[in-house]
Amino acid sequence: MNIQVHSASVADLEDLQQFATTLFAEAPPGIYRRSAPTMQEEYEFIASRVTPKNSTLLIARLDGRVVGLLDFLGGTLAEEAHTGTFGISVDRAYRGLGIGTQLIEELMLWALASGIRRVEVRAWANNPGAIRLYESLGFNREGILRDAILTDDTYVDVVLLSYLLDASPHR
Ligand SMILES: CC(C)(COP(=O)(O)OP(=O)(O)OC[C@H]1O[C@@H](n2cnc3c(N)ncnc32)[C@H](O)[C@@H]1OP(=O)(O)O)[C@@H](O)C(=O)NCCC(=O)NCCS
Repeated sequence: MNIQVHSASVADLEDLQQFATTLFAEAPPGIYRRSAPTMQEEYEFIASRVTPKNSTLLIARLDGRVVGLLDFLGGTLAEEAHTGTFGISVDRAYRGLGIGTQLIEELMLWALASGIRRVEVRAWANNPGAIRLYESLGFNREGILRDAILTDDTYVDVVLLSYLLDASPHR
């Protein structure tokens, strides 16, 4: 399987709006419930991740088709600009094939080149597959945000994980 990962631009707007629409209709356990974004909302999402130097948006494509997406949002305050949090999703039909792993590995290469020290991810406790994936890639659990999510009338803990990269503070 030849997966191409590339950083997004506004040229990807329609593909990403379609990907988000399909994902939010699926509403897998472990991600926020949302309605399909309008083109304008999707445009603003792309701009928010491709404009700041410490943020990025990575797309995985198979035969041109979007099969995975990772967004990383860097801290907006100077003291937190070396940190950021990512979100990730893979097309339901292509999960368990290594695409998520490939997206996170690309993120780490980008983060290293971009002076990011701390990559953070928050996984809902009802998403053990995602937590296993992050731990298998070297992320450490830092703590539990108790009952941080209310979904389907149930409180769910959030597991906070992070990975520290070898970035110098003297940049
Ligand atoms: C989480 C997600 C992005 C992982 O992407 P993926 O392409 O399926 O991940 P990979 O194929 O690289 O998975 C690698 C490992 O992670 C684990 N894993 C990933 N997703 C899993 C799942 N749903 N159930 C069980 N294990 C899972 C497996 O242990 C797998 O290891 P293996 O290949 O040795 O079995 C994908 O399952 C997804 O889109 N889920 C819905 C959205 C979501 O939950 N996003 C994360 C929010 S924190």
